Amino acid sequence: MATTKRTTKKQAAVEAVPVAEERVEIRPAAEAEVKVEAKRKILFVASEAAPFIATGGLAEVVGSLSKALAKRGSYDVRVILPLYQDIRKEYRKEFRFIGNIFVPLSWRNQYCGIFEYVKDNVTFYFVDNEYYFKRPGCYGYYDDGERFAFFCRSVMEILGFIGFYPDVLHCHDWQAALAALYLKTIYCYRPEYQFIRAVFTIHNIEYQGKYSLDILEDLFGISYRYQNLVEFDRCINLMKGAIECCERFSTVSPTYAQEIKDPYYSHGLDSIIRRNEFKLCGILNGIDPDYYDPRTDKALFANYSADDLSAKAVCKEELQRMLNLPVKPDTPIVAIISRLVSHKGLDLVKEVIEQALRQDMQFVLLGTGDSVYENYFADLARRYPGKVVSVISFNSDLSRKIYSGADIFLMPSKSEPCGLSQMIASRYGTIAIVRETGGLRDSISPYGAGGNGFTFHDYNAYDMLYVINEALGVYRNKEEWTALVKKAMTTDFSWSKSADSYVGLYESVLK
Ligand code: GLC
Repeated sequence: MATTKRTTKKQAAVEAVPVAEERVEIRPAAEAEVKVEAKRKILFVASEAAPFIATGGLAEVVGSLSKALAKRGSYDVRVILPLYQDIRKEYRKEFRFIGNIFVPLSWRNQYCGIFEYVKDNVTFYFVDNEYYFKRPGCYGYYDDGERFAFFCRSVMEILGFIGFYPDVLHCHDWQAALAALYLKTIYCYRPEYQFIRAVFTIHNIEYQGKYSLDILEDLFGISYRYQNLVEFDRCINLMKGAIECCERFSTVSPTYAQEIKDPYYSHGLDSIIRRNEFKLCGILNGIDPDYYDPRTDKALFANYSADDLSAKAVCKEELQRMLNLPVKPDTPIVAIISRLVSHKGLDLVKEVIEQALRQDMQFVLLGTGDSVYENYFADLARRYPGKVVSVISFNSDLSRKIYSGADIFLMPSKSEPCGLSQMIASRYGTIAIVRETGGLRDSISPYGAGGNGFTFHDYNAYDMLYVINEALGVYRNKEEWTALVKKAMTTDFSWSKSADSYVGLYESVLK
């Protein structure tokens, strides 16, 4: 049975280790905050944040976690980002220029303009340098290392300019790793910076920021004295550097914090993770419940709630019409909304989707990515007209129409640090089928055990197919299905619990 847990030796080894979160002794927030007199100062350093600029889940988390923390009242939360050309225009025109400085980067001395914008009690700063950031998109340039080195070095200099020395410098992913490294190798010797603590969050260990050792001093401006901090596998590895020098580091789900100690998930860094395990914890991401609310979401064809689901049928009907699918209220729509890359488990889908399609169902896919998958799904749609629709694009409006109009959401990732789509789908009453990995395992529990979705354990196409069939079976029983939809919609995916855990994490480094 695919829903029965089968535990391989390797997984047993992963699961046998106690959860690191418990070991770092994160104090509950309420207790921690009582003792706080002045507001704690937290600075997020990140390469993207919603709603200004987003290419993926990182942006949503930076945007919604900073807002959730600021809402608590006891934190002065600020976020610093590069001023990309693609920052949304409606916000860009509201930014206030607060000054400029020159930032030293090895032998270079570069212009750095600083803009400010306040939203939901969070102060956002934007680092302006047209040479580095006036380009389309955020990443993918030959000089990304230099661009984010400039960004991180600017962060450290800007603190002096604005006179804001945070208690916690919270760096997200490799693009912000150098901020922690600059703090520990250069700035901590200055009195104003000496009490700043660094926290690093890994949103995806696959992207580590690897560069040739030759450029350590010349480009990154870090003395070879510190080579041992950043060197891994004869390269500069910025993620490794941040892990070594931060006070604590975290991943975006407790299960992923365990998984990355295993070579299957670690993309080479497992030895580093294990050695630094004493400062690792996993905190599950949340989503912004106001931003994803089927009662108010304007992108939806009609609005509904867990108490009155009637308009979800309207969303489905209109979605079928819009996508030129036969309008059939009782035919389940199975959807995938994803970047089309291999770790999203698309090989499993390729292997068995045609078998699944023999049943009464419609299949809708939205996403862009590797051309093998784009071509495969475009071709599948051509071969199954009236049954399969593939929209090869990134379209947030359509994604919400699919989240609300579909019945089943498939997310069979090979690895998934957290994943937000399964939570969004659930909030819109679309039942998630996930592989039990990372945050998928921590947010979706199996129907058979009274949970809010369907899950399978091994990375195996036929285990997935089995669970798809199980879900289609439950779908045919309207009463059971409606109860499950309500359960999914009322699962708490908000930040409230996880924001407490971050507060606990911050307080643990400030003790
Ligand atoms: C990365 C991860 C994803 C996670 C997101 C936000 O995009 O791949 O699983 O949800 O970061 O933390």
